Amino acid sequence: MVVVGNQWGDEGKGKVVDWLTEQAQGVVRFQGGHNAGHTLVINGHKTALQLIPSGIMRPGVACFIGNGVVVDPEHLMLEIGRLEAAGVEVRGRLRISESCPLVLPSHVALDLARESSRESRGLGKIGTTGKGIGPAYEDKVARRALRLQDLKHPQRLRDKLRETLDLHNFMLRAYLHAAEVEFEPTLQRLLELAETVVPLLADVGHLIHLGHGRGDRLLFEGAQGTLLDIDHGTYPFVTSSNCVAGNAAAGSGVGPGYLHYVLGITKAYTTRVGSGPFPSELPIDEPGSVGHHLHTVGQERGTVTGRPRRCGWLDAAALKRANIINATTGQCITKLDVLDGLAEIRVCVGYTLDGRDVDILPLDGDDIARCVPRYESLPGWSASTAGLTRWAQLPLAARSYLERIAELSGTPIAMVSTGPDREHTIVLQHPFEG
Ligand code: IMP
Repeated sequence: MVVVGNQWGDEGKGKVVDWLTEQAQGVVRFQGGHNAGHTLVINGHKTALQLIPSGIMRPGVACFIGNGVVVDPEHLMLEIGRLEAAGVEVRGRLRISESCPLVLPSHVALDLARESSRESRGLGKIGTTGKGIGPAYEDKVARRALRLQDLKHPQRLRDKLRETLDLHNFMLRAYLHAAEVEFEPTLQRLLELAETVVPLLADVGHLIHLGHGRGDRLLFEGAQGTLLDIDHGTYPFVTSSNCVAGNAAAGSGVGPGYLHYVLGITKAYTTRVGSGPFPSELPIDEPGSVGHHLHTVGQERGTVTGRPRRCGWLDAAALKRANIINATTGQCITKLDVLDGLAEIRVCVGYTLDGRDVDILPLDGDDIARCVPRYESLPGWSASTAGLTRWAQLPLAARSYLERIAELSGTPIAMVSTGPDREHTIVLQHPFEG
């Protein structure tokens, strides 16, 4: 099964993956890097994961980082250390593809310097997480990336690093007027990190294949969201990988036949961090306004960067696009309880673009920026839905809202999340039984 974000990320995938993992034997990350941030609340204790699959919080579940993920070995060791300090067993259960491209300190320097340069040239920041993810993917596509397998070969590592850093430093110095990254300390640190990282390397595609053959239930865990996808998102305000369900196969080393079910995670409203068009956006600063309600009640702040998230009504025309790209089998609607107490709930059902009606998110970011949303109004509910576990317990208006989302976006609702804890979940159709 694949779990993907249906909007701009932060839909609550981590909690859902964690919940589903109770019935899984393995969890696979297939794209992105430590730009992702998954917050899990287990027994009231908050844990943030960035690179390591959410399955790590379930004892006995195997965790895989596939070839489509870019890995910062420094961050990887930090995250492993944090989990181990909290008593979580990691190294016996985590296997990482040796084909993963590395994120180097110079990628971080390039990411940050580029953002400043865009700003000073009046282009506006992308609003990246500043983790070096974009530059690392650029090197992969340019066929000059260092990969984790290079950590096994010190001389090869030295040669490739020299070549790559020469180029990075040229760009940093001559084009971006930023500080260079020193070769020797970078190399020495990578050699040190290699001692702990190399034992975790494996042929992940083959391991997944073997697990599949044994009848294991495997869960492919997407990071970011469909509208941040490098090809299908609101380009150029996107991340640098394919976040859509189809990439679960290419990013982990198996074919699409291993994927079966696609669960799209849809927040009951919309949020976005960073820049870029967002047709159904509401102002969040005015106390008493709906935007302020979503921002404060939903605690909408970035997990990785701590930035306030932009908030708005649910956009069903954007969801329709996401459900097509992902061939979503079912949706899980998250954070429904955040809407409790609103008198009216609006859903964006399409846009007016240059005088024409459009009912699906356009492909050109400039067009999206000119889209004026068309809304449908639904009644809200005053009762609390927080923590509910059965469909029949939901207020009638909440059920009507969910049914309308399914209708407008073209995909049935499989699950509803009513709070951050594992137990706060309503199941209509269990994805592993779908
Ligand atoms: P990058 O992935 O750091 O290059 O950032 C590119 C865009 O993707 C920015 O708008 C980020 O805010 C956004 N982004 C990256 N990772 C996440 C995530 O996990 N959740 C939400 N937005 C993200």
